[in-house]
Amino acid sequence: MKKVLIISTSIRAGSNSEILANKFYDGAKDAGHNVELITLRNKNVSFCRGCMACQKLGKCVQNDDANEITDKICESDVIVWVTPIYYYEMSGQMKTMIDRANSLYSRDYKFKEVYLLTVAADDDPKTPQHAIGGIQGWIDCFEGVSLKGTLFLGGINDPNEIKKDERLQEAYEMGKNI
Ligand SMILES: Cc1cc2nc3c(=O)[nH]c(=O)nc-3n(C[C@H](O)[C@H](O)[C@H](O)COP(=O)(O)O)c2cc1C
Repeated sequence: MKKVLIISTSIRAGSNSEILANKFYDGAKDAGHNVELITLRNKNVSFCRGCMACQKLGKCVQNDDANEITDKICESDVIVWVTPIYYYEMSGQMKTMIDRANSLYSRDYKFKEVYLLTVAADDDPKTPQHAIGGIQGWIDCFEGVSLKGTLFLGGINDPNEIKKDERLQEAYEMGKNI
């Protein structure tokens, strides 16, 4: 049994990527894993100030929701980042959270496996390539961690549009097979 943390980063109501995240959750749960899904909606996560105090303190000096999320990342085996594509990249919310989790760099983190789930209006398979490059850049900073899987659902734009999409099953299967 693995400890799995799914981080949904879209904050809009009827988020397509969050629906995708929930399917992954269902698959991982059905496989018997210990799974938690958190969303950045209604969370307060300010920008990283770049002070680097986190490298000594093991946490950020800013007292918002980022430290609790970072602790959850630190203690999980599997991290699943879920994001809408914004300007052919990961969402700003996701990048801000990644930066705010900078204390991980000097901590005894547990995670070894990372997944990236993306949704966009464009259905060109290349649409998530920069987001994949971005998360790979994060992963490369952590020894022993690898990108285990990516899933992209294109052609999805309006809130809740993904709900009847048959490709949701792919997220379920990915979650089930971690
Ligand atoms: C600021 C912003 C930038 C976006 N940039 C892109 C883009 O570059 N390519 C694309 O195909 N869709 C883009 N979209 C559309 C979203 O990826 C799409 O609506 C997606 O379904 C949103 O997922 P969500 O419902 O989980 O937030 C953008 C949306 C927003 C709000």
